[in-house]
Amino acid sequence: TREPPFDIAALRSDVEDLISDKLELGPALVRLAWHEAASYDSTKKDGSPNSASMRFKPECMYAGNNGLDIPRAALEPLKKKYPQISYADLWVLASYVAIEYMGGPAIPYSWGRVDAKDGAACGPDGRLPDGAQTQKHVRSVFTRLGFNDQETVALIGAHTCGECHLKYSGFEGPWTHDKNGFDNSFFTELLDEDWVVNGKIQQMQMMDRATTRLMMLPSDMCLILDPKYRTYVELYAKDNDRFNSDFSKAFKKLTELGTSNLHPAPAAES
Ligand code: HEM
Ligand code: CA
Repeated sequence: TREPPFDIAALRSDVEDLISDKLELGPALVRLAWHEAASYDSTKKDGSPNSASMRFKPECMYAGNNGLDIPRAALEPLKKKYPQISYADLWVLASYVAIEYMGGPAIPYSWGRVDAKDGAACGPDGRLPDGAQTQKHVRSVFTRLGFNDQETVALIGAHTCGECHLKYSGFEGPWTHDKNGFDNSFFTELLDEDWVVNGKIQQMQMMDRATTRLMMLPSDMCLILDPKYRTYVELYAKDNDRFNSDFSKAFKKLTELGTSNLHPAPAAES
């Protein structure tokens, strides 16, 4: 381990304060770190993942990144207060703090990500997954990123928290009844509810017949329709500890894609 050049304990606690003031920031920070990494192509080794390239045009304008200006702006005061941390490290640290704050796993953090200098680093548009599509598309995106089926299912389990916003994605609503909590409930809802088409939303999305308050995207539904994905949905629905540990490993891998020479930070006291 190597002590970073910023006060990581104080920074973690400042991120917790931001989230406790505005709970919907937690899921938004997780989505920010995910989309920053998801521009990667593991065969071409391009797309500038984990470099905070999303600060720049054209990437900040990609439709898939709608709404992520909010978590980026929320972290700006902390970048000013802790100028020694890179944006790229800050976004990832904030996502780990958010996951733990919401009741998810404590992910071992490493620092040393290098910020992109300008928009020349941005990957092309069209690399983020499309919620209107199903297993063929989902598998091609996650294979391009370098993840297998088990890691893919674990990662999409992040839809345990947060919600869709009509104004950002054209989809609407949360996946689970506790959108500020982080556990395996995305998987239990997926298996336990009777999912029917929600005719009130223009884009095709599903709602649970029992309460009609929950939603699933076509890309979520494909996880129970594809037999290989479904095996892992069943595993994680039964075993929250296994979900936490597999999610933790896959999310750490996601947030370290394309980086080199990261330093493990000393573990946080909790
Ligand atoms: C939100 C699609 C995978 C984390 C969303 C939204 C869509 C979406 C359409 C709603 C955005 C909005 O309207 O605000 C997808 C698709 C995926 C995928 C198609 C893959 C097939 C992931 C992964 C993670 C993740 C791998 C993290 C590991 C989140 C979170 C939110 C979200 C936390 C909620 C954001 C908020 O409440 O502001 N996703 N997603 N997603 N996604 Fe995903
Ligand atoms: Ca990027």
